[in-house]
Amino acid sequence: MAPVPPALVTCGSLEKPNILTIAWTGIVCTHPPMTYISVRPGRYSYPIIEQTGEFVVNLPTSSMAKAVDLCGMKTGAKTDKAKLSGLHLIESETVAAPTIEECPVSLECRVTEQKALGTHTMFLAEITGVSVEERYLDSKGKLNLQQAGLLAYAHGEYFALGRKCGDFGFSVRKKKRSK
Ligand SMILES: Cc1cc2nc3c(=O)[nH]c(=O)nc-3n(C[C@H](O)[C@H](O)[C@H](O)COP(=O)(O)O)c2cc1C
Repeated sequence: MAPVPPALVTCGSLEKPNILTIAWTGIVCTHPPMTYISVRPGRYSYPIIEQTGEFVVNLPTSSMAKAVDLCGMKTGAKTDKAKLSGLHLIESETVAAPTIEECPVSLECRVTEQKALGTHTMFLAEITGVSVEERYLDSKGKLNLQQAGLLAYAHGEYFALGRKCGDFGFSVRKKKRSK
């Protein structure tokens, strides 16, 4: 499946945080809002997420591509990745795991189920809080992320999301008649 968002997943606490890059993520339910991340058990973050039952999925922009790659190359066992990447961590609203200030959208998550699948274990989670950078919300509170320049990951390469070519339901929408 590509492209996917190479999410920056934060775990632990503001005092003892870690960040890892996760491509295996997505939304799996609208109500209740649910997501998943699939993590290899050998990752330093794995027991942290397992024990705390919390994480935050932060969506990066293309200007953060280097930090995204870095957080997927270095381990928190040996490196303070927040310091190394220059990313700023702030308090989340509903979980102890911190939020990345530079990311336009962050999903605060609480694990509801853990399923060992093979190479990866899936953490299924309820989204308990969402934070969005205000400038991407229009006057009606609708999310407008075209200007955010979100980062995409496809088959080992990073891309900046490009040209808009439609919106939800445009194929069946009736045109307004001009008087
Ligand atoms: C683009 C990209 C996507 C990745 N996706 C995943 C993933 O979905 N699951 C996973 O377990 N590791 C994934 N990784 C690898 C981890 O991010 C990497 O092993 C990281 O160093 C783990 O950090 P930690 O040891 O501090 O937990 C990915 C790495 C990159 C660069």
